[in-house]
Amino acid sequence: MSVYDLTGRKALVTGGARGLGEGMARALAAAGASVVIADIREDLGKATAESLRQAGAAAEFVALDVTAEDGWAQAMPQAIGHLGGLDILVNNAGIEITSLLVDVDPAELRRMLEVNVLGTALGLKHGFRAMRPGGPGNRGERPGGASQDHAIVNISSVAATIAFPGIAGYSATKSAVDRLTRVAAAESGRLGYGVRVNCVYPGLVPTEMGNQLAVDCATIGLFPSPQEAAGAVAGLTPLGRLGEVPDIADAVVFLASEGARFITGAGLPVDGGMGM
Ligand SMILES: NC(=O)c1ccc[n+]([C@@H]2O[C@H](COP(=O)([O-])OP(=O)(O)OC[C@H]3O[C@@H](n4cnc5c(N)ncnc54)[C@H](O)[C@@H]3O)[C@@H](O)[C@H]2O)c1
Repeated sequence: MSVYDLTGRKALVTGGARGLGEGMARALAAAGASVVIADIREDLGKATAESLRQAGAAAEFVALDVTAEDGWAQAMPQAIGHLGGLDILVNNAGIEITSLLVDVDPAELRRMLEVNVLGTALGLKHGFRAMRPGGPGNRGERPGGASQDHAIVNISSVAATIAFPGIAGYSATKSAVDRLTRVAAAESGRLGYGVRVNCVYPGLVPTEMGNQLAVDCATIGLFPSPQEAAGAVAGLTPLGRLGEVPDIADAVVFLASEGARFITGAGLPVDGGMGM
């Protein structure tokens, strides 16, 4: 069996109802994992899980607002109940609100901090509690004595590795996701949790969020049009194009797999070289 195969693995993807998270759920399922999609968008999340099932995957939906401690306390046992364990957590849920620094709205910045930083921190907390030895998602040793490889993948952004105008607040929150990842990996190692923790820095992908960012960059006067905003990003990218959902999802599958068994505390740019 390939070290990238996820047959029998159990994965939870936050923000999996649409966009990159949906793509990650599909890619994890295609690699053999059972998946639970957790999202605030209940109708959309249920429809995405149904479409995954129709494609032959084992997929379920649980309602979760990643900013709510009691939400995690309810969703995690539900997800473990559906899956029969937990091996992989992808902290993908996030929001982006474009603004020049001269126009920063405290409520908007607080909201980004809540979803992107607090949401990821709570995901790490509840993921560790579920997957560490003795945790309700930890299924112990595999036949033959090999220990389970548990993994958390956080979704940062190229915005944490470059300076692009209009996204200062968002960039700050995604830089925080980067640091949360490193400290989480250190704590997991020091305390013997057996959970690898890594993050990816996706480049711009034209999901609903990515498209809205291009529109907003034009609206605040940074570019004449959304097309020129997207074109400027592609122009800064050595591979010469924007990202596509599977570009990011396949990197998440890699970091979640046995193929990444000696990788923890790392940040993987998946941005066509934009952030180098
Ligand atoms: N699209 C890009 O260009 C891009 C680039 C770099 C990083 N990212 C990051 O990738 C992740 C996914 O982005 P996307 O483009 O798919 O965005 P998207 O807006 O298309 O999808 C985000 C999903 O997260 C869910 N969500 C939002 N707030 C939530 C909350 N409080 N609790 C639970 N779910 C919540 C939404 O309902 C939605 O399903 C985000 O963390 C984003 O910051 C995106």
